[in-house]
Amino acid sequence: MRRAKISIIGAGNVGATTAHIAAIKGLGDITLLDISEGIPQGKALDISQAMPLEGVDAVIKGTNKYSDTAGSDICVITAGIPRKPGMSRDDLLKTNTEIVSQVSKGIREYSPDSIIIVVSNPLDAMVYVAHKVTGFSKERVIGMAGILDSARFRHLIASDLNVSEESVSALVLGGHGDQMMPMARLANVAGIPISHFMDNKKIEKIIESVRNGGIEIVNLLKTGSAYYAPASSVCEMIESIVKDKKKILPCAAYLDGEYGTKGVFMGVPVKLGSKGAEEIIEIALDENEMELFQTNAKNVKELMVKTGL
Ligand code: NAI
Ligand code: 2OP
Repeated sequence: MRRAKISIIGAGNVGATTAHIAAIKGLGDITLLDISEGIPQGKALDISQAMPLEGVDAVIKGTNKYSDTAGSDICVITAGIPRKPGMSRDDLLKTNTEIVSQVSKGIREYSPDSIIIVVSNPLDAMVYVAHKVTGFSKERVIGMAGILDSARFRHLIASDLNVSEESVSALVLGGHGDQMMPMARLANVAGIPISHFMDNKKIEKIIESVRNGGIEIVNLLKTGSAYYAPASSVCEMIESIVKDKKKILPCAAYLDGEYGTKGVFMGVPVKLGSKGAEEIIEIALDENEMELFQTNAKNVKELMVKTGL
């Protein structure tokens, strides 16, 4: 059986870590592309040399040429600048719009049938840029953020309660920004609502920490942003697509009336399979939640306009 061809555009922290995890998990052959000469080649060679130790047969290639990505099944866009302390994700808009547009043209030319996973920030607006520039159908352009934010939510609950991370299920909806929506009423430990274990004050504190999860790491690292948990999150998406697992995962997907929202990419539960975002799961939101969802949509729309596309 043919192995999936996965191209990762941007061989920086998130891109290279994604390549490493995806290779170890045996998700497919991997091409790592960057504008920086030698970096993708060196990192790909290093990852390749780990394969005998990991017991994986995969071709891992580094390149500066889009022709090497030709015929990819999945293209992950991690090219772009990350935040520094004092910056919001939105401050990256101008530079990353240019980078993501350029990358999207390369993908459109060489992998016209691929599924794109966008990671670059500001996430929801960058998914829009990739969709607009490639012209790919909405099912084939998806953003990664909700899995990361939900993993942070799960981790905070698990560590506070001293229970297994695996026992905790939690969901974050909306945009990947300060107004993201950790859905506390849906969070549970082995099916038991978290309100059984903690009071409202504690839950509010955790919600705040989820929202600040990204900037907390930026402030500690000082030179960049998170990449281990983001890379694991991307691999969760790649795996569900290449194995057609049809996992329900929170991803930035194109809303065409769902959640009372049209023409915007934003975080909602999505069924991810071999065709990409195969279905959007629309859960009932209460009045306050719907109001916050609409505030998120408004913020994303403002950024979309600023991209000039
Ligand atoms: P990084 O600076 O380590 O890597 C970015 C790479 O992109 C660099 O190697 C750079 O040479 C490359 N690049 C720049 N322009 C390019 C172009 N035109 N074509 C190909 N490659 C190009 O940054 P890092 O930490 O990997 O983050 C990448 C992006 O992902 C940032 O925008 C960051 O904010 C975002 N991010 C988003 C997350 C999410 O949840 N959606 C999570 C983590 C990061
Ligand atoms: C994060 O939330 C950088 O957006 C990224 O860590």
